[in-house]
Amino acid sequence: MKTFNITIAGGGSTFTPGIILMLLDYLDEFPIDTIKLYDNDGDRQKTIADACAILLKERAPEVRLLASTNPEEAFTNVDFVMAHIRVGKYAMRELDEKIPLKHRVVGQETCGPGGIAYGMRSIPGVLELVDYMEKYSPDAWMLNYSNPAAIVAEATRKLRPNSKILNICDMPIGIEELIAKNLGLSSRKEMEVDYYGLNHFGWWTDIRDKEGNSLMPDVIKHVSQHGYATDGTSELEQQESWNSTLKKARDVQALDPKTVPNTYLKYYLYPDYEVAHSNKEFTRANEVMEGREKFVFGECQAIIDKGTAKETKLVIDEHASYIVDLAKAIAFNTKERMLMIVENNGAIKNFDPTAMVEIPCIVGSNGPEKLVVGEIPRFQKSLMEQQVGVEKLVVEAFEEGSYQKLWQAITLSKTVPSAKVAKDILDDLIEANKAFWPALK
Ligand code: NAD
Ligand code: G6P
Ligand code: MN
Repeated sequence: MKTFNITIAGGGSTFTPGIILMLLDYLDEFPIDTIKLYDNDGDRQKTIADACAILLKERAPEVRLLASTNPEEAFTNVDFVMAHIRVGKYAMRELDEKIPLKHRVVGQETCGPGGIAYGMRSIPGVLELVDYMEKYSPDAWMLNYSNPAAIVAEATRKLRPNSKILNICDMPIGIEELIAKNLGLSSRKEMEVDYYGLNHFGWWTDIRDKEGNSLMPDVIKHVSQHGYATDGTSELEQQESWNSTLKKARDVQALDPKTVPNTYLKYYLYPDYEVAHSNKEFTRANEVMEGREKFVFGECQAIIDKGTAKETKLVIDEHASYIVDLAKAIAFNTKERMLMIVENNGAIKNFDPTAMVEIPCIVGSNGPEKLVVGEIPRFQKSLMEQQVGVEKLVVEAFEEGSYQKLWQAITLSKTVPSAKVAKDILDDLIEANKAFWPALK
Protein backbone atom coordinates (compact mmCIF):
# COMPACT_ATOMS: atom_id res chain seq x y z
CA MET A 1 0.00 0.00 0.00
CA LYS A 2 1.23 3.50 -0.82
CA THR A 3 2.39 5.54 2.14
CA PHE A 4 1.67 9.25 2.30
CA ASN A 5 3.63 12.33 3.26
CA ILE A 6 1.71 15.12 4.93
CA THR A 7 2.64 18.69 5.75
CA ILE A 8 0.71 20.47 8.48
CA ALA A 9 1.03 24.18 7.77
CA GLY A 10 0.52 26.18 10.92
CA GLY A 11 2.42 23.44 12.77
CA GLY A 12 2.21 25.55 15.92
CA SER A 13 -1.60 25.52 15.86
CA THR A 14 -3.56 24.35 18.87
CA PHE A 15 -5.22 21.87 16.48
CA THR A 16 -1.98 20.18 15.32
CA PRO A 17 -1.74 17.54 18.10
CA GLY A 18 -5.39 16.53 17.55
CA ILE A 19 -4.80 16.04 13.83
CA ILE A 20 -1.64 14.02 14.44
CA LEU A 21 -3.49 11.80 16.95
CA MET A 22 -6.26 11.30 14.39
CA LEU A 23 -3.74 10.39 11.68
CA LEU A 24 -2.26 7.79 14.05
CA ASP A 25 -5.71 6.36 14.67
CA TYR A 26 -6.20 5.80 10.95
CA LEU A 27 -2.72 4.43 10.13
CA ASP A 28 -4.05 0.99 9.07
CA GLU A 29 -6.25 2.54 6.40
CA PHE A 30 -4.09 5.56 5.62
CA PRO A 31 -0.41 4.70 6.09
CA ILE A 32 1.96 7.58 6.61
CA ASP A 33 5.65 7.80 5.96
CA THR A 34 6.39 11.36 7.09
CA ILE A 35 4.54 14.18 8.82
CA LYS A 36 6.15 17.57 8.38
CA LEU A 37 5.22 20.61 10.44
CA TYR A 38 5.66 24.04 8.91
CA ASP A 39 5.17 27.38 10.67
CA ASN A 40 6.68 30.83 10.37
CA ASP A 41 7.04 30.97 14.16
CA GLY A 42 9.69 28.37 14.91
CA ASP A 43 9.55 28.79 18.68
CA ARG A 44 5.80 28.27 18.91
CA GLN A 45 5.98 25.28 16.61
CA LYS A 46 8.87 23.70 18.55
CA THR A 47 6.79 22.97 21.66
CA ILE A 48 4.15 21.18 19.59
CA ALA A 49 6.77 19.39 17.47
CA ASP A 50 8.89 18.18 20.39
CA ALA A 51 5.82 16.83 22.18
CA CYS A 52 4.49 15.15 19.04
CA ALA A 53 7.90 13.57 18.39
CA ILE A 54 7.70 11.86 21.80
CA LEU A 55 4.12 10.82 21.16
CA LEU A 56 5.01 9.35 17.76
CA LYS A 57 8.04 7.51 19.09
CA GLU A 58 5.76 5.78 21.62
CA ARG A 59 2.73 5.10 19.44
CA ALA A 60 3.96 4.86 15.85
CA PRO A 61 7.75 4.76 15.63
CA GLU A 62 7.59 4.03 11.91
CA VAL A 63 6.18 7.53 11.19
CA ARG A 64 8.82 10.20 10.72
CA LEU A 65 8.28 13.73 12.01
CA LEU A 66 10.08 16.80 10.82
CA ALA A 67 9.49 20.40 11.87
CA SER A 68 10.76 23.26 9.78
CA THR A 69 10.37 26.95 9.08
CA ASN A 70 12.00 26.45 5.69
CA PRO A 71 9.37 26.24 2.93
CA GLU A 72 11.50 24.13 0.58
CA GLU A 73 12.15 21.52 3.25
CA ALA A 74 8.54 21.55 4.46
CA PHE A 75 6.78 21.41 1.10
CA THR A 76 9.02 19.08 -0.92
CA ASN A 77 7.75 15.59 -1.71
CA VAL A 78 4.36 15.75 0.01
CA ASP A 79 0.92 14.42 -0.98
CA PHE A 80 -1.24 16.61 1.24
CA VAL A 81 -0.86 19.97 2.92
CA MET A 82 -3.26 20.36 5.81
CA ALA A 83 -3.35 24.10 6.41
CA HIS A 84 -4.57 25.91 9.49
CA ILE A 85 -2.61 29.12 9.85
CA ARG A 86 -3.72 32.14 11.85
CA VAL A 87 -1.94 35.17 10.46
CA GLY A 88 -1.38 37.59 13.34
CA LYS A 89 -2.13 34.87 15.89
CA TYR A 90 -4.45 35.37 18.87
CA ALA A 91 -3.11 38.86 19.56
CA MET A 92 -4.66 40.05 16.30
CA ARG A 93 -7.82 37.98 16.80
CA GLU A 94 -8.32 39.85 20.04
CA LEU A 95 -8.19 43.17 18.16
CA ASP A 96 -10.50 41.82 15.40
CA GLU A 97 -13.05 41.21 18.14
CA LYS A 98 -12.48 44.26 20.34
CA ILE A 99 -12.22 47.01 17.71
CA PRO A 100 -15.73 46.50 16.24
CA LEU A 101 -17.16 46.03 19.75
CA LYS A 102 -15.75 49.42 20.71
CA HIS A 103 -18.05 50.80 17.99
CA ARG A 104 -20.98 48.69 19.26
CA VAL A 105 -20.69 46.26 16.32
CA VAL A 106 -20.35 42.45 16.49
CA GLY A 107 -16.77 41.46 17.29
CA GLN A 108 -16.18 37.99 15.87
CA GLU A 109 -13.31 35.96 14.41
CA THR A 110 -14.92 35.30 11.00
CA CYS A 111 -18.13 37.36 10.86
CA GLY A 112 -18.51 41.11 10.32
CA PRO A 113 -15.61 43.60 10.39
CA GLY A 114 -13.41 41.29 12.50
CA GLY A 115 -13.68 38.56 9.89
CA ILE A 116 -12.94 41.09 7.16
CA ALA A 117 -9.81 42.25 8.97
CA TYR A 118 -8.70 38.65 9.45
CA GLY A 119 -9.42 37.97 5.78
CA MET A 120 -7.11 40.77 4.69
CA ARG A 121 -4.33 39.13 6.75
CA SER A 122 -5.09 35.54 5.75
CA ILE A 123 -5.25 36.06 1.99
CA PRO A 124 -1.49 36.64 1.50
CA GLY A 125 -0.64 33.96 4.08
CA VAL A 126 -2.67 31.27 2.37
CA LEU A 127 -1.62 32.34 -1.15
CA GLU A 128 1.99 31.96 -0.03
CA LEU A 129 1.29 28.39 1.16
CA VAL A 130 -0.39 27.56 -2.16
CA ASP A 131 2.63 28.90 -4.04
CA TYR A 132 5.07 26.88 -1.92
CA MET A 133 3.03 23.74 -2.48
CA GLU A 134 2.85 24.29 -6.24
CA LYS A 135 6.56 24.99 -6.44
CA TYR A 136 7.81 22.07 -4.35
CA SER A 137 5.02 19.44 -4.68
CA PRO A 138 2.93 20.35 -7.74
CA ASP A 139 0.72 17.26 -7.50
CA ALA A 140 -0.23 17.75 -3.86
CA TRP A 141 -3.63 18.83 -2.53
CA MET A 142 -4.07 21.50 0.07
CA LEU A 143 -6.88 20.85 2.55
CA ASN A 144 -7.49 24.22 4.12
CA TYR A 145 -9.10 25.06 7.44
CA SER A 146 -7.44 28.51 7.69
CA ASN A 147 -10.09 31.13 8.39
CA PRO A 148 -11.96 33.14 7.42
CA ALA A 149 -12.63 30.25 5.04
CA ALA A 150 -15.23 32.15 2.97
CA ILE A 151 -12.85 34.99 2.12
CA VAL A 152 -9.85 32.68 1.72
CA ALA A 153 -11.90 30.49 -0.65
CA GLU A 154 -12.96 33.48 -2.77
CA ALA A 155 -9.35 34.71 -2.85
CA THR A 156 -7.95 31.39 -4.02
CA ARG A 157 -10.78 30.96 -6.56
CA LYS A 158 -9.96 34.31 -8.05
CA LEU A 159 -6.21 34.65 -7.58
CA ARG A 160 -5.08 31.00 -7.88
CA PRO A 161 -7.85 29.55 -10.09
CA ASN A 162 -6.01 26.34 -10.98
CA SER A 163 -4.68 25.50 -7.56
CA LYS A 164 -5.59 22.24 -5.84
CA ILE A 165 -6.88 23.81 -2.64
CA LEU A 166 -10.04 22.58 -0.95
CA ASN A 167 -11.58 24.79 1.71
CA ILE A 168 -13.51 23.22 4.55
CA CYS A 169 -15.20 24.07 7.83
CA ASP A 170 -15.84 22.00 10.93
CA MET A 171 -18.92 23.93 12.07
CA PRO A 172 -21.57 21.84 10.26
CA ILE A 173 -20.07 18.56 11.46
CA GLY A 174 -19.81 19.91 14.99
CA ILE A 175 -23.50 20.79 14.93
CA GLU A 176 -24.37 17.49 13.26
CA GLU A 177 -22.74 15.64 16.15
CA LEU A 178 -25.07 17.50 18.54
CA ILE A 179 -28.07 16.76 16.32
CA ALA A 180 -27.10 13.08 16.22
CA LYS A 181 -26.77 13.01 20.00
CA ASN A 182 -30.24 14.53 20.42
CA LEU A 183 -31.66 11.96 17.98
CA GLY A 184 -30.10 9.13 19.98
CA LEU A 185 -27.70 8.19 17.16
CA SER A 186 -24.12 7.16 17.84
CA SER A 187 -22.61 9.74 15.47
CA ARG A 188 -23.28 12.15 12.61
CA LYS A 189 -22.09 9.43 10.27
CA GLU A 190 -25.46 7.72 10.71
CA MET A 191 -27.05 10.69 8.94
CA GLU A 192 -27.08 12.07 5.41
CA VAL A 193 -27.64 15.81 5.13
CA ASP A 194 -28.84 18.35 2.61
CA TYR A 195 -27.36 21.77 3.33
CA TYR A 196 -26.65 24.94 1.40
CA GLY A 197 -25.29 28.40 2.03
CA LEU A 198 -22.01 30.20 2.38
CA ASN A 199 -19.37 29.35 4.95
CA HIS A 200 -20.70 30.05 8.47
CA PHE A 201 -23.91 31.13 6.74
CA GLY A 202 -26.08 28.16 5.77
CA TRP A 203 -29.12 25.98 6.40
CA TRP A 204 -29.91 22.26 6.64
CA THR A 205 -32.95 21.47 4.51
CA ASP A 206 -33.12 17.75 5.25
CA ILE A 207 -31.44 15.18 7.48
CA ARG A 208 -32.06 11.49 6.78
CA ASP A 209 -31.10 8.20 8.34
CA LYS A 210 -29.14 5.70 6.28
CA GLU A 211 -32.40 4.11 5.04
CA GLY A 212 -33.48 7.46 3.62
CA ASN A 213 -36.13 8.31 6.21
CA SER A 214 -36.28 12.00 7.03
CA LEU A 215 -35.37 12.83 10.62
CA MET A 216 -36.13 16.48 10.01
CA PRO A 217 -39.42 16.75 11.97
CA ASP A 218 -37.63 15.67 15.16
CA VAL A 219 -34.63 17.88 14.44
CA ILE A 220 -36.84 20.93 13.83
CA LYS A 221 -38.86 20.26 16.96
CA HIS A 222 -35.73 20.17 19.10
CA VAL A 223 -34.03 23.19 17.53
CA SER A 224 -37.20 25.30 17.70
CA GLN A 225 -37.33 24.66 21.45
CA HIS A 226 -33.70 24.32 22.58
CA GLY A 227 -31.47 25.32 19.68
CA TYR A 228 -28.60 22.82 19.50
CA ALA A 229 -28.37 22.33 23.27
CA THR A 230 -28.12 18.71 24.37
CA ASP A 231 -28.07 17.39 27.91
CA GLY A 232 -25.23 19.81 28.62
CA THR A 233 -22.46 17.22 28.59
CA SER A 234 -21.00 17.93 25.14
CA GLU A 235 -17.58 19.55 25.04
CA LEU A 236 -18.92 22.67 23.30
CA GLU A 237 -21.59 23.23 25.93
CA GLN A 238 -18.93 23.25 28.63
CA GLN A 239 -17.72 26.56 27.20
CA GLU A 240 -19.98 29.47 28.09
CA SER A 241 -19.76 31.30 24.75
CA TRP A 242 -20.55 28.15 22.75
CA ASN A 243 -23.33 27.25 25.13
CA SER A 244 -25.14 30.52 24.43
CA THR A 245 -24.42 30.27 20.70
CA LEU A 246 -25.97 26.81 20.54
CA LYS A 247 -29.08 27.96 22.41
CA LYS A 248 -29.46 31.13 20.32
CA ALA A 249 -29.97 28.91 17.22
CA ARG A 250 -33.56 28.63 18.44
CA ASP A 251 -34.22 32.29 17.62
CA VAL A 252 -32.39 32.00 14.30
CA GLN A 253 -34.42 28.94 13.37
CA ALA A 254 -37.68 30.84 14.00
CA LEU A 255 -37.04 32.91 10.86
CA ASP A 256 -37.39 29.87 8.62
CA PRO A 257 -39.21 27.10 10.49
CA LYS A 258 -38.73 24.50 7.72
CA THR A 259 -34.93 24.44 8.00
CA VAL A 260 -32.33 24.48 10.77
CA PRO A 261 -29.55 27.08 10.64
CA ASN A 262 -25.81 27.41 11.05
CA THR A 263 -25.21 28.93 14.48
CA TYR A 264 -23.15 31.86 13.16
CA LEU A 265 -26.19 33.31 11.39
CA LYS A 266 -26.98 34.82 14.79
CA TYR A 267 -24.32 37.46 14.19
CA TYR A 268 -26.18 38.70 11.11
CA LEU A 269 -29.76 38.26 12.32
CA TYR A 270 -29.39 39.33 15.98
CA PRO A 271 -26.36 41.65 15.97
CA ASP A 272 -27.87 44.04 18.54
CA TYR A 273 -28.46 41.15 20.95
CA GLU A 274 -24.90 39.88 20.38
CA VAL A 275 -23.32 43.25 21.10
CA ALA A 276 -25.46 43.72 24.21
CA HIS A 277 -24.32 40.31 25.49
CA SER A 278 -20.61 40.72 24.69
CA ASN A 279 -17.96 41.60 27.23
CA LYS A 280 -15.89 44.28 25.50
CA GLU A 281 -12.92 43.60 27.79
CA PHE A 282 -12.89 39.81 27.57
CA THR A 283 -13.83 38.28 24.22
CA ARG A 284 -13.65 34.78 22.75
CA ALA A 285 -9.94 35.34 21.90
CA ASN A 286 -9.26 35.77 25.63
CA GLU A 287 -11.31 32.69 26.41
CA VAL A 288 -9.34 30.64 23.85
CA MET A 289 -5.97 31.94 25.06
CA GLU A 290 -6.87 31.04 28.64
CA GLY A 291 -8.53 27.78 27.62
CA ARG A 292 -7.46 25.83 24.54
CA GLU A 293 -4.08 27.50 24.01
CA LYS A 294 -3.01 27.12 27.64
CA PHE A 295 -4.26 23.55 27.75
CA VAL A 296 -2.60 22.37 24.52
CA PHE A 297 0.73 24.09 25.14
CA GLY A 298 0.63 23.03 28.79
CA GLU A 299 0.03 19.39 27.84
CA CYS A 300 2.80 19.54 25.22
CA GLN A 301 5.24 21.04 27.71
CA ALA A 302 4.30 18.33 30.21
CA ILE A 303 5.05 15.63 27.62
CA ILE A 304 8.44 17.22 26.96
CA ASP A 305 9.25 17.57 30.67
CA LYS A 306 8.25 13.99 31.49
CA GLY A 307 9.74 12.57 28.30
CA THR A 308 6.56 10.55 27.73
CA ALA A 309 3.05 11.08 26.36
CA LYS A 310 1.59 8.09 28.18
CA GLU A 311 -0.57 10.18 30.51
CA THR A 312 -1.42 13.00 28.16
CA LYS A 313 -4.92 14.43 28.14
CA LEU A 314 -4.60 15.51 24.50
CA VAL A 315 -7.42 13.89 22.53
CA ILE A 316 -8.71 13.44 19.00
CA ASP A 317 -11.76 15.50 18.06
CA GLU A 318 -14.31 15.80 15.25
CA HIS A 319 -12.36 18.69 13.79
CA ALA A 320 -9.50 16.32 12.99
CA SER A 321 -11.72 13.52 11.70
CA TYR A 322 -13.12 15.72 8.94
CA ILE A 323 -9.80 16.73 7.41
CA VAL A 324 -8.48 13.16 7.63
CA ASP A 325 -11.68 11.82 6.01
CA LEU A 326 -11.16 14.33 3.22
CA ALA A 327 -7.56 13.23 2.68
CA LYS A 328 -8.71 9.59 2.56
CA ALA A 329 -11.48 10.45 0.09
CA ILE A 330 -8.90 11.89 -2.29
CA ALA A 331 -6.24 9.27 -1.65
CA PHE A 332 -8.55 6.26 -2.11
CA ASN A 333 -11.37 7.69 -4.24
CA THR A 334 -13.89 6.84 -1.51
CA LYS A 335 -16.62 9.08 -3.00
CA GLU A 336 -17.59 10.23 0.47
CA ARG A 337 -20.40 12.77 0.68
CA MET A 338 -19.01 15.86 2.43
CA LEU A 339 -19.87 19.53 2.73
CA MET A 340 -17.26 21.59 0.90
CA ILE A 341 -16.80 25.27 0.07
CA VAL A 342 -16.81 25.27 -3.74
CA GLU A 343 -17.56 27.56 -6.68
CA ASN A 344 -21.34 27.51 -7.18
CA ASN A 345 -21.30 27.19 -10.96
CA GLY A 346 -25.00 26.33 -11.19
CA ALA A 347 -25.38 24.02 -8.18
CA ILE A 348 -27.65 26.65 -6.60
CA LYS A 349 -29.62 27.51 -9.68
CA ASN A 350 -30.75 31.03 -8.85
CA PHE A 351 -27.42 32.20 -7.41
CA ASP A 352 -24.18 33.82 -8.64
CA PRO A 353 -22.23 31.07 -10.46
CA THR A 354 -18.93 32.51 -9.21
CA ALA A 355 -19.89 32.57 -5.53
CA MET A 356 -18.09 30.19 -3.18
CA VAL A 357 -20.91 28.20 -1.59
CA GLU A 358 -20.96 25.46 1.06
CA ILE A 359 -22.85 22.45 -0.27
CA PRO A 360 -22.70 18.64 -0.31
CA CYS A 361 -20.18 17.15 -2.72
CA ILE A 362 -19.06 13.64 -3.59
CA VAL A 363 -15.33 13.59 -3.00
CA GLY A 364 -13.00 11.29 -4.89
CA SER A 365 -9.46 11.30 -6.25
CA ASN A 366 -10.25 14.13 -8.67
CA GLY A 367 -11.66 16.33 -5.92
CA PRO A 368 -15.25 17.30 -5.13
CA GLU A 369 -18.18 16.79 -7.50
CA LYS A 370 -20.99 19.15 -6.56
CA LEU A 371 -24.51 17.91 -5.94
CA VAL A 372 -27.35 19.98 -7.34
CA VAL A 373 -29.16 22.14 -4.77
CA GLY A 374 -31.64 23.75 -7.16
CA GLU A 375 -33.54 26.95 -6.40
CA ILE A 376 -33.31 28.55 -2.97
CA PRO A 377 -35.94 30.80 -1.31
CA ARG A 378 -35.85 34.61 -1.55
CA PHE A 379 -34.97 35.18 2.13
CA GLN A 380 -31.83 33.03 2.05
CA LYS A 381 -30.90 34.14 -1.46
CA SER A 382 -31.07 37.81 -0.50
CA LEU A 383 -29.05 37.36 2.68
CA MET A 384 -26.45 35.32 0.80
CA GLU A 385 -26.18 37.87 -2.01
CA GLN A 386 -25.40 40.61 0.48
CA GLN A 387 -22.78 38.46 2.22
CA VAL A 388 -21.16 37.25 -1.01
CA GLY A 389 -20.91 40.90 -1.99
CA VAL A 390 -18.96 41.56 1.21
CA GLU A 391 -16.59 38.65 0.58
CA LYS A 392 -15.95 39.58 -3.05
CA LEU A 393 -15.36 43.23 -2.17
CA VAL A 394 -12.76 42.21 0.42
CA VAL A 395 -10.83 40.21 -2.16
CA GLU A 396 -11.07 43.08 -4.67
CA ALA A 397 -9.91 45.51 -1.98
CA PHE A 398 -6.92 43.27 -1.27
CA GLU A 399 -6.07 42.90 -4.96
CA GLU A 400 -6.37 46.58 -5.76
CA GLY A 401 -5.21 47.97 -2.41
CA SER A 402 -8.51 49.84 -2.33
CA TYR A 403 -9.65 51.72 0.77
CA GLN A 404 -12.92 52.50 -1.02
CA LYS A 405 -13.80 48.83 -1.61
CA LEU A 406 -12.91 47.81 1.93
CA TRP A 407 -15.14 50.60 3.24
CA GLN A 408 -17.90 49.34 0.94
CA ALA A 409 -17.35 45.77 2.18
CA ILE A 410 -17.67 46.75 5.85
CA THR A 411 -20.67 48.99 5.09
CA LEU A 412 -22.39 46.14 3.24
CA SER A 413 -21.97 43.68 6.13
CA LYS A 414 -25.35 43.11 7.74
CA THR A 415 -23.64 43.44 11.12
CA VAL A 416 -22.81 47.14 10.53
CA PRO A 417 -25.46 49.88 10.99
CA SER A 418 -24.07 52.68 8.80
CA ALA A 419 -21.32 53.83 6.45
CA LYS A 420 -20.11 56.22 9.17
CA VAL A 421 -19.65 53.40 11.69
CA ALA A 422 -18.02 51.30 8.94
CA LYS A 423 -15.48 54.06 8.26
CA ASP A 424 -14.67 54.53 11.94
CA ILE A 425 -14.07 50.81 12.35
CA LEU A 426 -12.03 50.61 9.14
CA ASP A 427 -9.74 53.43 10.22
CA ASP A 428 -9.07 51.68 13.54
CA LEU A 429 -8.50 48.35 11.78
CA ILE A 430 -6.01 49.91 9.34
CA GLU A 431 -3.99 51.23 12.24
CA ALA A 432 -4.05 47.86 14.03
CA ASN A 433 -3.19 45.86 10.90
CA LYS A 434 -0.31 47.99 9.58
CA ALA A 435 2.13 45.10 9.80
CA PHE A 436 -0.12 42.76 7.80
CA TRP A 437 -2.36 44.51 5.27
CA PRO A 438 -1.26 45.92 1.94
CA ALA A 439 -1.23 49.73 1.89
CA LEU A 440 -4.69 51.02 0.94
CA LYS A 441 -5.24 53.97 -1.39
P1 NAD B 1 -3.09 29.12 16.39
O1 NAD B 1 -2.74 30.57 16.46
O2 NAD B 1 -2.92 28.27 17.58
O3 NAD B 1 -2.23 28.46 15.23
C1 NAD B 1 -1.96 29.05 14.02
C2 NAD B 1 -0.48 28.89 13.68
O4 NAD B 1 -0.28 29.49 12.38
C3 NAD B 1 0.47 29.60 14.64
O5 NAD B 1 1.42 28.69 15.14
C4 NAD B 1 1.14 30.67 13.77
O6 NAD B 1 2.48 30.92 14.09
C5 NAD B 1 1.00 30.08 12.38
N1 NAD B 1 1.10 31.04 11.29
C6 NAD B 1 0.58 32.28 11.24
N2 NAD B 1 0.84 32.84 10.05
C7 NAD B 1 1.55 31.93 9.33
C8 NAD B 1 2.11 31.93 8.03
N3 NAD B 1 1.97 32.99 7.22
N4 NAD B 1 2.78 30.84 7.62
C9 NAD B 1 2.90 29.77 8.43
N5 NAD B 1 2.39 29.71 9.67
C10 NAD B 1 1.71 30.78 10.11
O7 NAD B 1 -4.59 29.07 15.85
P2 NAD B 1 -5.74 27.96 16.04
O8 NAD B 1 -6.76 28.50 16.96
O9 NAD B 1 -5.15 26.66 16.33
O10 NAD B 1 -6.41 27.98 14.61
C11 NAD B 1 -5.69 27.75 13.44
C12 NAD B 1 -6.51 28.10 12.24
O11 NAD B 1 -7.54 27.15 12.03
C13 NAD B 1 -7.22 29.45 12.33
O12 NAD B 1 -7.22 30.06 11.06
C14 NAD B 1 -8.62 29.06 12.71
O13 NAD B 1 -9.55 30.06 12.40
C15 NAD B 1 -8.76 27.85 11.86
N6 NAD B 1 -9.89 26.96 12.15
C16 NAD B 1 -10.79 26.79 11.17
C17 NAD B 1 -11.85 25.98 11.34
C18 NAD B 1 -12.84 25.87 10.23
O14 NAD B 1 -13.97 25.51 10.47
N7 NAD B 1 -12.48 26.20 8.99
C19 NAD B 1 -12.01 25.31 12.54
C20 NAD B 1 -11.07 25.47 13.54
C21 NAD B 1 -10.00 26.30 13.33
C1 G6P C 1 -16.00 26.75 14.62
C2 G6P C 1 -15.82 27.29 13.24
C3 G6P C 1 -14.40 27.62 12.98
C4 G6P C 1 -13.86 28.54 14.01
C5 G6P C 1 -14.10 27.95 15.37
C6 G6P C 1 -13.76 28.99 16.40
O1 G6P C 1 -15.43 25.49 14.74
O2 G6P C 1 -16.24 26.40 12.26
O3 G6P C 1 -14.30 28.18 11.72
O4 G6P C 1 -12.49 28.73 13.82
O5 G6P C 1 -15.43 27.61 15.56
O6 G6P C 1 -13.51 28.34 17.55
P1 G6P C 1 -12.74 29.00 18.74
O7 G6P C 1 -12.81 27.93 19.74
O8 G6P C 1 -11.34 29.30 18.25
O9 G6P C 1 -13.50 30.23 19.08
MN1 MN D 1 -15.56 27.17 10.25
